[in-house]
Amino acid sequence: MFGSPLVKSLGSIFRYLGADHVVLITGSRSFTESPHFGNLLAWFSEEQVRFDHYTCSGEPSPGSVDGVTAKYSGDIPSLVIAIGGGSVIDTGKAVSAMLGVNKPVKMFLEGVGTETPPGTKVPFIAVPTTAGTGSEATKNAVLSEVGRDGFKKSLRHDRYVPDYAIIDPELYAGCPPSVTAASGLDAITQLLEGFVSTGAQPLTDQYALAGLKMAGRSFENACRNGADLDARGDMALAAFNSGVVLANAGLGVVHGIAGALGGLRRVPHGAACGTLVGLVTTRIIEKLTRIQGWDTHTVRKYALAGAALSGGDHGSVQGNVESLLDTLSRWIREFDIPALGTYGFTRDIISTCAQGSGLKNTPVELSVEEISDIIRARM
Ligand SMILES: [Fe+2]
Repeated sequence: MFGSPLVKSLGSIFRYLGADHVVLITGSRSFTESPHFGNLLAWFSEEQVRFDHYTCSGEPSPGSVDGVTAKYSGDIPSLVIAIGGGSVIDTGKAVSAMLGVNKPVKMFLEGVGTETPPGTKVPFIAVPTTAGTGSEATKNAVLSEVGRDGFKKSLRHDRYVPDYAIIDPELYAGCPPSVTAASGLDAITQLLEGFVSTGAQPLTDQYALAGLKMAGRSFENACRNGADLDARGDMALAAFNSGVVLANAGLGVVHGIAGALGGLRRVPHGAACGTLVGLVTTRIIEKLTRIQGWDTHTVRKYALAGAALSGGDHGSVQGNVESLLDTLSRWIREFDIPALGTYGFTRDIISTCAQGSGLKNTPVELSVEEISDIIRARM
């Protein structure tokens, strides 16, 4: 549901769902300190909706999910609503999937647990307040634990796609420029990686190109003037599209590296993707054009992405590819996306991280050495 105030959209959903006991999950401050929170509480009271409120901060972990679900054994709530950034939405998604399951969520995480997620869930409404992960449109929740045996892995099932996503551009207006930039670059990375993915399809391509065009015309305005609701709306839809694209076409090596980094240290996902996407895209295109030349399906797709993101046709495949790389590197520089060292990463993690980075659906092979070089250059 796009464009209406939060409580108006909730009103129409509640008329259909009739939920009387809600688990409400929000971030720790930005939403709860905004007037929108007061409006929501007043609406709950008017509608006599019983709710339990939990806040979460930082990247979501199995512990934060189990901490909520363990509170319910007999009286399972009838709805979960998560309002916040990607971390909050992922926490809400995992809570809605695990309520009533009575087992730790870690048992169901890909590559960590041994059990297949059951796919049962309590209805879930995702209300994003940052335009980035597109979790409001995806079937997975990413949970992590940092440290020596750290991981960043997904709880995934087709039925975990949120039942509703409410996109109210006003809710994004309070998102600070640094978070807007990093999350926006995450969405752009997802659109781009999905667009050139080996799993791309005609329908996901349409979502990806439309998302890249919206991001192209509105990324800078959303970062520079948070109150520009047209720009916020564009970025919110670009992020939603990126979720549709990644859930159906898959991602690439930027997300492979970001996943490995996220298991080693606490680093915001958007910042990890944002710092890597420029250089990774450059290296992939260098390799593709060296092996296959400029006139190939994938390189032409990078050119289309360049025209969409830069807002104009530069006359040739090479011109549009260059505009893509220029736009990405300019945004990373102008909006101060930090290098990895800012988050405490040091050179001794490079080889572990490169070995743990999956290529996912990247359209060209990259060796562990090539991935190591990329990580080293962004240190
Ligand atoms: Fe992402």
